[in-house]
Formats: sequence, C-alpha cells, structure tokens
Amino acid sequence: MKPTILVTGGTGYIGSHTVIELLEEGMEVVIIDNLSNSNLEVLDGIEDISGKRPHFEKVDLRDRSSTFEVFEKYSGIEAIIHFAAFKAVGESVEKPLAYYENNLLSLIHLLEAMKKYGVPNLVFSSSCTVYGEPDSLPVTEEASIKKANSPYGNTKQICEEILQDTIESSPENGVISLRYFNPIGAHPSAKIGELPIGVPNNLVPFITQTAFGIREQLNVFGQDYNTPDGSAIRDYINVVDLARAHVVAIRRLLEQKQKSSFEVFNLGTGKGISVLEIIRAFENTTGQKLNYRMVDRREGDVEQVYADTAFANNELGWKAEKGIEETLLSAWNWEKYIRLKATT
Ligand code: UD1
Repeated sequence: MKPTILVTGGTGYIGSHTVIELLEEGMEVVIIDNLSNSNLEVLDGIEDISGKRPHFEKVDLRDRSSTFEVFEKYSGIEAIIHFAAFKAVGESVEKPLAYYENNLLSLIHLLEAMKKYGVPNLVFSSSCTVYGEPDSLPVTEEASIKKANSPYGNTKQICEEILQDTIESSPENGVISLRYFNPIGAHPSAKIGELPIGVPNNLVPFITQTAFGIREQLNVFGQDYNTPDGSAIRDYINVVDLARAHVVAIRRLLEQKQKSSFEVFNLGTGKGISVLEIIRAFENTTGQKLNYRMVDRREGDVEQVYADTAFANNELGWKAEKGIEETLLSAWNWEKYIRLKATT
C-alpha cells in the first residue's frame, strides 16, 4: 500500500520540490495550499517532472472546518509535512499579528485534525533562525534557542514548543522538526523553482534577477563582518537535497514503532559560504557578470551561521550532495525558464 502524505504549502518553493521526491518514491500526495504565495501552474511542473499529478485542495488552514473536510475526504492520511506559513522576515515586523495568526493557527488546526482523524506523524518546516547569532560554530541541535529577532522567527520557536507540548500528551504521535539553513536553487529540470513576488528579499533570487536585468544592482549587505572577506556567511543548501531529507524523515516516522517522539534535525551542508563567494561562484558557473556594490549591514542579520550536520548525517542517513556551483546554475536556469515562459 502506498502511504498517503498530506503536504501543506505543497505548491510553494520547498513544498513543490518535496512533492516531486515523494511522488518519485511512489507515495500518494495530497496538497493543501491557499495559493497566497504560489499558483496552480506549479502542479503542471510537478506533473511534467514526475509523470504524476498530486491531489490538490485549495484550502486556508486558518479555516478549521475546511481543513477538517480534507481529512474527511482523504481518509488514510499517514503523515503530514507542514510547509504552509508566512516567511518574510521584514513583513513579519510590519504585520506581526498576521504572522502569529497564520503560522500558529494553521499548526493548531492541523494538530487538532491529527487527533480527530488519527493521523500519527508530522514533519515540521523550521529554520536555523531559531539559533539567532550562535555562540559557537558549526551549530548543533543542542545550541541554545535565542530570543527571536523577528515575529517570523518567533513563530518558528513557538510552533516547535507547541509541537513538543502536544507530543508529550499524545503517545501515539511522532514529530520531526527540520531546521533549514539557507535553501537555494531549483529543480535540475528548471520546471519548478522559487517564485518570489515583488522585490526578492533573499540573496539568490536577487542575484538571478540582477543577472537577468530585472534588477539593476545587487546590494551586498555588510563588508565589515569578522569573516575572511568581510561579508556574511551562511550555509546554502540545494532545495532538492533538502526535499530528499523530507522523504527520509517521513520514512523514519512511518517505520517508527515507539511513538511519542519529538526530534529536531539541522538541514544544511555544514559549509559556510560568504556572500562574495556566492557572487564569484555564480559568475564562474554561469559566465554572467554581476553588477553589485557593497553597502551597510542589513538590520537583523547575523554574522555567520552554518550547520553541524552530524546528527542528520548519522541518524537520518541523509547528506547534502550537490555543490554550490551546480546549485547556483540551477537557480539561473530556472530564472531564464520563467522569464522566457512569461514572454511566450
Ligand atoms: C532569511 C531569514 C531566515 C529565513 C530565510 C529563508 C533573516 C535575518 N533571516 O535568512 O530567518 O529562514 O531567510 O527565507 O532575514 N544578502 C545581500 N543582499 C541581498 C540579500 C541578501 O547581501 O540583496 C545577504 C544577507 O545579508 C545574508 C545573505 O545574503 O548575509 C543571505 O540572505 P538571505 O537570502 O536573505 O537569507 P538569510 O537572511 O540568511
């Protein structure tokens, strides 16, 4: 029997890449998405790549009864991967209540549905943002959780606490929280990728849009960090590597006999790369010259953060495999693909 997996936010950036990996593993997928930051064409991309079209329900998880209806309709859901959430740091500072309402209520409704419909397993999308500016590097899962520097980051911390408390009272459930470092890149087919609305906040979409001529110049935030070249350091992980980790996490939960578990894993490469190194790697691999300038630090940014991946490597048996140049090339190919598609 194929396990049925419910993927919330399954038409989003990381969600859509994960849906492909689940379908390619022979799993049945039901997507819930309210399409607030994605569109239905993503389903065509998923079908083109995998040869299978996932079930799709346009539902807002803040709506409890519509959420429950999905569980009524697809009985036999064995696990949930919960991606659906607001994720823009700056926006969360301007609209904190929207972030708390959306990110917390969605999780609470899903946990209620798990209880009511007997769904035992959940994988949660968390972030390395929970570590803030870490005391030591690389960051292990045991590192202390710092006060969040944005409402967005706080929703990730609170959601993890909600999950932990819920698990303690539900011996039948298993939860894995995956703390992503910086997911970048696109599917190697270039048929799905990240689709930022408006001006991108994140580095790599800004780079590809600048190279394509949509943005005039990339601002490199900070040149006086205490790093070898003065720019900030992150752990950039290929989105397909990241997607595969979800399949491994789902298998782990499905095979787990002893429940009542809440586990946390860092998902990164273990390698810190500076903004200037990313720019060089992009130029080398694509042959595109980037127009950029050094500017002041961006408020709220940490100097450097990269993962200790030993726990994920040893316990999950998962490892990020793709190199940075291959990953940046995939982001560039995706940028070209969507721009070309928009003009045809
Ligand atoms: C951000 C969030 C993080 C979230 C992640 C995924 C903050 C503080 N953290 O990570 O919580 O999980 O996005 O969405 O916002 N940079 C530039 N120029 C740009 C854009 C970025 O130099 O135009 C630099 C940044 O200063 C940073 C690096 O590139 O050093 C990566 O930035 P970004 O892609 O925005 O991710 P984070 O800020 O690391």
